[in-house]
Amino acid sequence: MRSVPASRLARNELAGGDAEPLLRVTGLTVRFGDFVALRDVSLDLYGRGIHAVIGPNGAGKSTLFNAISGFAKPEHGNVHFGNADVTGERADRLARLGLARSFQMCATFPDLSVADNVRTALLRDVTGIGLLRRRGGEKLDPAIEGLLEETGLSSERYRRAADLSYGRRRLLEIVTTLALRPKLLLLDEPMAGLAREDIPAVTRLIDKAAEDCAVLFVEHNLPVVERLAKRVTVLAGGSVLCEGSYREVASDPRVREAYIGDVGDV
Ligand SMILES: Nc1ncnc2c1ncn2[C@@H]1O[C@H](COP(=O)(O)OP(=O)(O)OP(=O)(O)O)[C@@H](O)[C@H]1O
Ligand SMILES: [Mg+2]
Repeated sequence: MRSVPASRLARNELAGGDAEPLLRVTGLTVRFGDFVALRDVSLDLYGRGIHAVIGPNGAGKSTLFNAISGFAKPEHGNVHFGNADVTGERADRLARLGLARSFQMCATFPDLSVADNVRTALLRDVTGIGLLRRRGGEKLDPAIEGLLEETGLSSERYRRAADLSYGRRRLLEIVTTLALRPKLLLLDEPMAGLAREDIPAVTRLIDKAAEDCAVLFVEHNLPVVERLAKRVTVLAGGSVLCEGSYREVASDPRVREAYIGDVGDV
């Protein structure tokens, strides 16, 4: 049996006990022309639990997500997901392997109903929605029905997404992503643009999602990070500044320094 370093063991206990990481990012570098947006970034994430990426504006958080999820080509480094090297793999293939993501701007199909938005997760091409509905009747996967129920979206299943509040569209977007049954869910700033009163429902949904998959999320709302994340990676200027529990990184003077002039106190 291979020995596991003590530091790794501690992480496994936090993350649910898996021996190998579900996601391993190694030495990732992404360049836009002369500008290096990510420099030698490494990160391990295990099969359960919630991991946050924080850092000032422009730190490279979305670029990291893009490089992991097939939307940006790394110049150097690797992304391993499960047992596969998925570096530079297309987003649709990654989704089929179990790696799903949402974007900083909430994305739903405005003219489709709540239920049909969820059904789109199961389609490669949205024009097939009528066919899918006819084949599958009105029923959605019971686990997804449960999430619609819990988020209160069930009673709005026939409403157009465009007629929902922004907060409810964000819930719908996350439920739709979960309909893919991902092993890993990537959320880029799930709280961005939400009204204060919508934050608890989205927080609860992410917590619930983490019962069935690993979650990696970027977030500026630090109380939400403190509430949800077992581990936190801090990015600044395209590099990893530090990693640890929320308490550890929040008390790191380098983190406070990185945030000065951006969002103020950590
Ligand atoms: N396609 C691109 N072309 C050129 N520069 C880019 C591109 N995408 C991102 N950048 C630059 O890379 C840096 C990192 O951007 P990124 O969007 O990853 O930051 P972020 O940490 O997600 O910031 P925020 O908190 O504001 O969302 C920024 O300076 C940004 O301007
Ligand atoms: Mg971003």
